[in-house]
Amino acid sequence: MCAGQGTRMKSSLPKVLHPVAGTPMILNVIGALKNSGVQEIRAIVGHGEALVRRVLEPLGVTCLKQQQQLGTADAVKAADPSTIEGDIIIVSGDTPLITAEQIKSLYEEFRLSKAGLGVVYATVENPGSLGRVVRHYEQLKAIVEVTEASQETLKIKDVNAGMYFCQSSILQEFLPKIKNNNNKKEFYLTDLVEICQAHDEKVVALEGSKNVAFGVNTQKELAAATKFVFQKKVENLLDNGVIFIDPNTVYIELEAEVAAGAVIYPNVFIRGNSKIGNFSVIESNVFINNSQIGQGVQVRAGSYLEQVTIGNNSSVGPYARLRPETVIGENCLIGNFVEVKKTKIGNRSKAAHLTYLGDAEIGEDVNVGCGTITCNYAADKKKYKTTIGDRVFVGSDTQFVAPVNIGADSIIGSGSTITKDVPAGALAVARGKQFVKENYAAQLKKSMDAKKEN
Ligand code: UD1
Ligand code: CA
Repeated sequence: MCAGQGTRMKSSLPKVLHPVAGTPMILNVIGALKNSGVQEIRAIVGHGEALVRRVLEPLGVTCLKQQQQLGTADAVKAADPSTIEGDIIIVSGDTPLITAEQIKSLYEEFRLSKAGLGVVYATVENPGSLGRVVRHYEQLKAIVEVTEASQETLKIKDVNAGMYFCQSSILQEFLPKIKNNNNKKEFYLTDLVEICQAHDEKVVALEGSKNVAFGVNTQKELAAATKFVFQKKVENLLDNGVIFIDPNTVYIELEAEVAAGAVIYPNVFIRGNSKIGNFSVIESNVFINNSQIGQGVQVRAGSYLEQVTIGNNSSVGPYARLRPETVIGENCLIGNFVEVKKTKIGNRSKAAHLTYLGDAEIGEDVNVGCGTITCNYAADKKKYKTTIGDRVFVGSDTQFVAPVNIGADSIIGSGSTITKDVPAGALAVARGKQFVKENYAAQLKKSMDAKKEN
């Protein structure tokens, strides 16, 4: 079920697309369902339909439209359960902390119970807005929504997780009997419990964990879910030998991998499918997105990396900005205030300070002096390439006006504006010649003093 508006989120993004630790929450739910072995997934869409479809359809999920959001029972109707044979699991799209293992074990319990309907519940300290599980002695009697509950019922701490198992015949027979004669004028799926009981259909309550019942209805709950997922990820990495100086201040998305022996300083954010190799050190205030970092790499404080590859034993930063399609070899040094974009840098090459390298291919053992700039963007609004061969020495404050090729082993004099190709092994100097006027300062003073006296 993911057709609801998510009014309480106070956001125009459909609720189920809000990210939990970087992943739209609905994808966590779909992932758990898929890994639990369900055969077919039908998503009920409505609010923000086009966007939700765009996320779900590529995953092979069938999206069915609920015309009007008339409540959870109406949503299930839209899934056309009469066309499903066998057992059905119903889950809310806003419960991102469910896992495949939990679904599997709850389903097994349901199957063994031979009941027609299984309702998953959890016991929580702060039941808040969740539906309360009302029992008569031990027998499940009803689920009562908060808007309908008495003061006495509100005290119950067993809550409806919003996950149900049933045979499809149950839905065919009893869904049409659900009425909307309640305070919200909605068709509540939870009414199924009482209706089944009234028709002598066996109903079981299946105990789940707090996480199964964790529904995201507000930004506060979304932030709590995100925090939980990040914490779990860090705990998992700690168990696997990653060193954190302060695990509470590090955010690593689920897909990212960090190898044993890596050291992560406080205030680090690692996104997407990033990989950090053994014994690499990621200092504070570093943001890493979809990047592959080898072993023994130093990413020093304040660096920003997106879609880059860094070879073993290289060092970048502090304050390096490495932009997409940058590939840095092994044993390289990319120092402070260096920006690199769509550039390949060979092994053992260095650009230690204040440099921009864009659309370039740089060989091995190259030294790029301080303040070097590749002028890759021309007045025709096109990008041009700079190629620098192996072992080139680039003096400080050089500009390469691309397209330009610098042959291997050549030397570029400081302050050069290189506009033409340089052959291998050559020296190229392209700057105004220095001239010297001896005693100029004294002469200047003399002529100024003479003017004053006049
Ligand atoms: C629901 C349950 C409540 C349970 C809680 C668990 C009902 C009546 N109440 O309450 O007992 O404790 O989930 O999280 O079922 N949706 C639709 N179409 C609709 C209405 C809702 O697709 O017409 C979807 C929503 O997008 C959401 C899910 O169903 O993903 C649950 O709806 P929501 O409004 O969040 O229900 P709760 O108030 O949380
Ligand atoms: Ca909810």
